[in-house]
Amino acid sequence: MEGIFITMEGPDGSGKTTQIDLLKKYLESRGYDIVIAREPGGTVIGEAIREIILNPEYREMSHMTELLLYASARAQLVNQVIKPALLFGKAVICDRFVESSAVYQGIGRGLGVDTVYEINNYALGEVKPELTIFMDLDAADGIRRKKSQTDLDRMELEDLSFHKRVVEGYRQLAELYPERIFPVDATLSIEEIHSMIVNEVKKRFFSE
Ligand code: TMP
Repeated sequence: MEGIFITMEGPDGSGKTTQIDLLKKYLESRGYDIVIAREPGGTVIGEAIREIILNPEYREMSHMTELLLYASARAQLVNQVIKPALLFGKAVICDRFVESSAVYQGIGRGLGVDTVYEINNYALGEVKPELTIFMDLDAADGIRRKKSQTDLDRMELEDLSFHKRVVEGYRQLAELYPERIFPVDATLSIEEIHSMIVNEVKKRFFSE
């Protein structure tokens, strides 16, 4: 069995975690061993980097530092977790990946999408997601859903216009790369979204 690599993207509060859990169960039912990872994090080193990146006290962090820290956490995750899992034929589902950097740092921070992909190519090597699911939700709705949860991290503390640029960025990428990025209306019910995702996975990986 060949490994498969799927990433889940979207603004905070768009329901990625719920859909990852459901997709995990579906892929298990198809006989896959599943590895779930989150970004930034998913390794001891990556989680340590996450603490630095998201610490709300580090307001002075430069945009380039931020971009490189995300890429560093990603390099560790790719080498320690994703690559070995794919070699063993597992299904890897990653909660955020390089498209988060493209939109948060490339578009939100204004560093440029090309710069982000160029730098991240060092972190990724030949490991690329075959399918990226984009949970499409207006920024204001995402913030509203998230606010009721926990304390806000350094990224969540950004203003609404930043988060709007992020969502617009995701929409642009989905239009640019329809063969790889699958957008889903995140305002639909959990069951509707799951069944759309399953249909797409069947089509792309199982030719059904
Ligand atoms: P999380 O809350 O989904 O775990 O993600 C942490 C935050 O980091 C979230 O606000 C999105 C942001 N982020 C980036 O800005 N760039 C990246 O490359 C990644 C992976 C996340």
